[in-house]
Amino acid sequence: MKATIALLAFLTVGLASVAAREPKEYDRDVNYDEARLPKYDLPPLLVTPEGKKITSPEEWHQVRRPQILALFSNLIYGKVPQPAAAIEQSYEVVKTDPEFMEGKATRKDVKIRFSNDRGEVEMHFLVFVPNQAEKPVPAFLKHSFNNTQSKDFDASAIRPGKLRNGWPLGDFFDRGYGFCAVYQQDLVGHNETEFLKGIHKLFYPEGQSFPKAHEWGVLSAVAWGAMRAMDYLETDDDIDATRIAIMGHSKMGKATLWTAAQDERIALAISAQSGCAGAAIWRRKSGETLKKMVTRFPYWLCRNAWKFVEQEDDLPVDQHMLLACIAPRPVYVHSSIDDTWADSRGEYLSAYHASEVYRLLGKKGLENEASPEPGEPIIESDVGYHTREGGHSIDPYDWERFLDFADYHLKND
Ligand code: GCU
Repeated sequence: MKATIALLAFLTVGLASVAAREPKEYDRDVNYDEARLPKYDLPPLLVTPEGKKITSPEEWHQVRRPQILALFSNLIYGKVPQPAAAIEQSYEVVKTDPEFMEGKATRKDVKIRFSNDRGEVEMHFLVFVPNQAEKPVPAFLKHSFNNTQSKDFDASAIRPGKLRNGWPLGDFFDRGYGFCAVYQQDLVGHNETEFLKGIHKLFYPEGQSFPKAHEWGVLSAVAWGAMRAMDYLETDDDIDATRIAIMGHSKMGKATLWTAAQDERIALAISAQSGCAGAAIWRRKSGETLKKMVTRFPYWLCRNAWKFVEQEDDLPVDQHMLLACIAPRPVYVHSSIDDTWADSRGEYLSAYHASEVYRLLGKKGLENEASPEPGEPIIESDVGYHTREGGHSIDPYDWERFLDFADYHLKND
């Protein structure tokens, strides 16, 4: 008996220490080995479900793009429903500071308010306008993890030319860009599972208290918020709303692509290491997969997406089609070699395959199926790309390439 207890104790301690050395559950069985990836066929971009070939820009815009957007809306990110009662939307510049970063820029704190008889929700939008540049200025619109009302943007967070979090705002101002930030959690929680507070409640008809299977998850709500920020920018005389480059990193890169795909007012999109549900191809199942994502973040997408867990080949779309919906507007994808969780190769392939639509629309896409080497950015193309050494972050090298891409496309035309 004693021996059994001792053996049990030994086994328990032994197993516990093995468990401690194991990767976390979500990181187990991750397939990073290119040779072991599944074989797959991508759904065709330029053939409708009825088998009709799309051969002209008109057919793309009138037939195929709306089909693809509806599929992403209903099966992946979730559709924004009609609100139960009309939503009133208003803007108020609650604070203006013309001395931001030693007088380089004017900071405006803008309150965007939504209300109807179900309640009221506010977004706190930040707009920085370079003081020296000729107005209206082109601007970057960043989907931000940093709370726009927090100390991250206070005077105490300012370092020479940048913010404490590394955003090189001084470079943007020097190159004549405004910089705007919309905070991801103003309308919905980071890993929301209830949807009782926030923006959703304004949309529920009597008797509904949770999104339906095809209705908006977290990423769709974040994207909707950025579109409302675009509504405000169209009213701001300092900003040229026809020259907005939207950008975001990681989860915010996913939101960026979904925002830009839907909102044709956005002139250019930059996906920084957006990975799964961003630029990466679902069917490769490399790094983070649909299963891993919906296990940890069940409502970033809509519930319909759950049906495709380990059945990615049944999806009528893949992420190259999301990038294609941004065409002919320039799109830039940034990866890095060690960011295997985001599947850099899959991100590149998406951009490469989306290029088919750019070419149909008379634009320049990626020509080479092989990914470029780190440090060989592709800027002078409507589908741009770079990868670099290193991991999951936006580094100074990346910020500079984003600005180069925007300069090339937003200042040359
Ligand atoms: C997690 C998640 C990714 C996401 C990332 C981020 O790692 O699995 O999908 O991109 O967080 O947003 O930083």
